[in-house]
Amino acid sequence: MTDQDNRPRDARPIGVFDSGLGGLTVVREIREKLPGEDLVYLGDTARVPYGARSSETIVRYARACGRSLARHKIKMLVVACNTVSAVALDVLRVDLDMPVLGVIEPGARAAVAATRTGRVGVIGTTSTVASGAYPRAVSSLATKADVVSIAAPLLVPLVEEGWLEGEVPTLVVERYIDALRGASVDTLVLGCTHYPMLRPVIERVARRTLGESTRVVDSAEATANELAAFLEERGLASAKQRDGALKITVTDRPQSFGAVAERFLGHSVGDVEVVDL
Ligand code: DGL
Repeated sequence: MTDQDNRPRDARPIGVFDSGLGGLTVVREIREKLPGEDLVYLGDTARVPYGARSSETIVRYARACGRSLARHKIKMLVVACNTVSAVALDVLRVDLDMPVLGVIEPGARAAVAATRTGRVGVIGTTSTVASGAYPRAVSSLATKADVVSIAAPLLVPLVEEGWLEGEVPTLVVERYIDALRGASVDTLVLGCTHYPMLRPVIERVARRTLGESTRVVDSAEATANELAAFLEERGLASAKQRDGALKITVTDRPQSFGAVAERFLGHSVGDVEVVDL
């Protein structure tokens, strides 16, 4: 299909997935930036968390998620999960034969844009940190930048439990951020899409521990911007300017997922469908 300026348009939905709730932080930015796009989201709530699993297992789960979303005749896939983006992006591209956008490169770009000193801290899951994906992505963009990465595995279960404020998340975040004391980073990347839900706590602790001017960045907004540019370049953008639909699918516990999604996105999400991978 083409619009009045003869640019090709594509009405098919975009697939987005994560192990659980975290990818909604990316969905929120995509809907803000591209309100006309239809989205189908998959949260693999039966298997969350992915972050401490082996690369083989993450690749297996990611392929199953990709296949599930491909059944919705999507035009492209956004991997709204750093862990999967770190280890399974290429496999998904080959498997699905469609454009696949991850969150690590946009996150690295946001970090390089934010840092003044070139010293960047990253917190992420154990697998993301072990993969070295952030240091690789950052150094391909800025040869003078240094990345110090810390695994913060307990933050994902806190988010999935909805434990976003108060004493317990603060103590856990303090423990992790303390490991960056003395690393002289001026920018902290939330290298897991669950972490922006804990942003107020993380920001408070980071500023207290690492310095008041510490910049906290996440990849959600940068990913939405790259997605918008990509869709335009490839003639894949929707002709609609607004009212894009959001369909949410999960592999377990649809009611609680729907309730958190509505709270987080600020609107009703309709029936959350359970899918079997
Ligand atoms: N939200 C995901 C990420 O960005 C995965 C977290 C997990 O399942 O451990 O890494």
